[in-house]
Amino acid sequence: MLLDIENECQVLSDDSKEGLIKQCNQYYITIMTNHNFRKDIAGLNIKVPVIGGALHDYINFDNAASTPPLKCVWEILEEFKDYYSSVHRGTGYKSIVSTRAYDLAHEKALQFVDADPEHFTCIMVRNTTEGINKLSRRLNLTKDDIVLSSLMEHHSNDLPWRMRARIEYIEVDNNGQIDLEDLRHKLTKFGRQVKLVAISGASNVTGVMPPIREAARIAHEHGAQFMVDAAQLAPHRRIRMGKPSREDAIDYLVFSGHKMYAPFGAGVLIGPKSLFKQGDPDLVGGGSVNYVTLSQVQWAHLPDKEEAGSPNVPGAVALASAIDYLRKVGFDKIAAHEKELTKYAFEKFAKLDGVTLYGPSRWIPGQDRVGVISFNVDGVYHAVTAAILSFEGAVAVRNGCFCAHPYIMRLLKISEDASKKYRDQINAGVRSEVPGLVRVSFGIYNTKAEINTFFKILKSIVNRTFRGKYLMDEHTGQVRPSGFRFPEKLRFLRNENHKGPTRRSHR
Ligand SMILES: Cc1ncc(COP(=O)(O)O)c(C=O)c1O
Repeated sequence: MLLDIENECQVLSDDSKEGLIKQCNQYYITIMTNHNFRKDIAGLNIKVPVIGGALHDYINFDNAASTPPLKCVWEILEEFKDYYSSVHRGTGYKSIVSTRAYDLAHEKALQFVDADPEHFTCIMVRNTTEGINKLSRRLNLTKDDIVLSSLMEHHSNDLPWRMRARIEYIEVDNNGQIDLEDLRHKLTKFGRQVKLVAISGASNVTGVMPPIREAARIAHEHGAQFMVDAAQLAPHRRIRMGKPSREDAIDYLVFSGHKMYAPFGAGVLIGPKSLFKQGDPDLVGGGSVNYVTLSQVQWAHLPDKEEAGSPNVPGAVALASAIDYLRKVGFDKIAAHEKELTKYAFEKFAKLDGVTLYGPSRWIPGQDRVGVISFNVDGVYHAVTAAILSFEGAVAVRNGCFCAHPYIMRLLKISEDASKKYRDQINAGVRSEVPGLVRVSFGIYNTKAEINTFFKILKSIVNRTFRGKYLMDEHTGQVRPSGFRFPEKLRFLRNENHKGPTRRSHR
């Protein structure tokens, strides 16, 4: 097969081999998807140092955290910067242009998910977390109301509900899939007390995609509303809100620009206008009003009512540009490429002993999922595995609990007592034993050759043949090779005007 040339071309020098593999991968992606994703992403030609001083191509398998920017997003912002101005109230030409660009970003976000603009409004927020927090405040919940979320949720789709309502968790089965029977059971048990079912469109721990249409239908049949946390779904699959009259429609949707190649601090909350027309907005101030007297306030029309203060216009323009790109390329191609990578990675994991996978442990034909895989190398602490991948292969992964502590504790079968012990250790400033996993997550531009490199380093960890010596900072839990230094040439890492002692990190 095209991509297994690595073993076939032993006669070539390492440099020629690397060049050939890169070219083949490029052709492979282009042939498979008829689209050269790699040329569209910024920063892919950056080499980073590994142990021994060599420079390696950076491999980003941490897309579930944040994706690198699309070049077209930078280019649009480059063009936009000359027109950037305050929005909505200015009469200057640039202000009028900026206002149109900002409003258009809202329109594009609605179109992106087929949301009927007569029914839905799009509120620009910073990210998914802010969107869910806002929704939790605007739903006017009381502690008697129940929100049904699931056991696999990111904290951002758990803690906001805990603060304002009673939360109950839908069970997750051994394959990491939401248990729809348990959803039905809880909806029946709690009846009209359940105001909302809020689940993620794809797990940031296992990549599993819950059947959101079916879950929406069940929620609506029982009189509850339905929200999807689409932070992990929006970059990978086409989402449709659905006609509001349909049982399987989505009522509320949230997603983040920085996970879909537009890292400029904008995200989106989409929901029915009827909710946000009622009552007072959660954040008030300039921009959110039509008219104010000393005793009265008349709120602005949507979405302005819900976007108090000067908004992040470049962020919205960037998000709109990423949306344009994803729609133009098409989710069929994106999904086909990412599934191919995920299947390939699972095949490689299956051939490697000494690694435990969490969630579905193999590629299941016909089951849709996004390219997120979590694992541990048996007997090696997750932070050490992640550090070796980074400092010996330039492979960026994530380790820890991925802001889903309860789910990770469940996957690792950690008892309440053990969990309490770790909590006490953290409170005492010791993070060197905190349990966790290692996660790889793929984006549109990743390649099978990158997966090969990842497995080469992973094997060296399994076989304990890695090269470096690694030190852990007990307080942060971070693992670095001894002698690690930040590069001095990077201007954004300098602090030349600061006279006092420099702290290594503010964290
Ligand atoms: C499933 C899920 N929901 C919510 C979030 C929070 O997203 P953000 O940090 O953009 O607010 C994340 C982030 O990783 C996530 O994976």
